[in-house]
Amino acid sequence: MSETETVIDLEHLKKSFGKSEILTDINLKINRGETVVTLGKSGTGKSVTLKCIVGLIKPDSGKVKVLGKNIPDLSYEELQYMRKKIGFVFQSGALYDSMSVRQNLEFPLMRNTDLSAGDINKKVEEVLNDVGLSKAIDKMPAELSGGMRKRIGVARTIIMNPEVMLWDEPTTGLDPETTRDISHLIVRMQRKYKVTSIVVTHDMICAKIVSDKIVVLKDGAYSEPGTYDELENSKDEFVRSFFEEVENDENAELTNYQPSSIDKKKYRN
Ligand SMILES: Nc1ncnc2c1ncn2[C@@H]1O[C@H](COP(=O)(O)OP(=O)(O)OP(=O)(O)O)[C@@H](O)[C@H]1O
Ligand SMILES: [Mg+2]
Repeated sequence: MSETETVIDLEHLKKSFGKSEILTDINLKINRGETVVTLGKSGTGKSVTLKCIVGLIKPDSGKVKVLGKNIPDLSYEELQYMRKKIGFVFQSGALYDSMSVRQNLEFPLMRNTDLSAGDINKKVEEVLNDVGLSKAIDKMPAELSGGMRKRIGVARTIIMNPEVMLWDEPTTGLDPETTRDISHLIVRMQRKYKVTSIVVTHDMICAKIVSDKIVVLKDGAYSEPGTYDELENSKDEFVRSFFEEVENDENAELTNYQPSSIDKKKYRN
């Protein structure tokens, strides 16, 4: 496998619901180990794109290749097998409320692997350590803060050793400090487990911290990919507007934080 192996390859992906054309021509190649952030206004099809990749939504046409396989062509069994390689971190964290943290983490391993109880226990401890929550092992989800629940959601996805991670709004509803924590956690997981990721977010702190490349979804297609710094200076006014909001939107979560602490140097080096 060469270093520039394409892990996710979307070609001319189209999806409509009834008369509304949501995705008209989605094209994107992501190499192994890369993290691509998707920006876009609400309702433009960011989540639909992730669902096409994981096979929850079937596109009308186009290719959705993951690790060389075109997802819409897979049989049910092949898709189940492929899904074990794709981690999907849902916005809600989606923990089972009646199970402790330990049980939430054990559950996917017991269901999908033949690991011994001892090995499962080791993995649970390792991923909890990864997300900085070793002490929460016997807590119930209701006892956790929003940020902690997100971390457990991350741990539960990482524990399956996915090759691909899809993150849908991983920092929504979190304060700026927790947003930064979770974003750095995404980067750490990225480095440790060498996953290939798409992160859907409207949060520019998160986008800055996690992205290798960014694309902006508009009218069913992606803008030309670029780094944060490149797109911040894009000739396309619409693309630039996402970056301008960081400075201008006085109501944004960002600005609950002291304005002086939106220290560009800190995020942009
Ligand atoms: N299963 C579905 N059936 C019908 N319409 C759907 C379905 N899933 C999504 N849509 C529609 O497709 C459009 C795009 O939805 P999507 O959830 O991808 O938006 P989004 O870009 O993720 O927005 P947000 O930022 O608010 O999460 C919306 O108009 C939504 O109502
Ligand atoms: Mg969405």
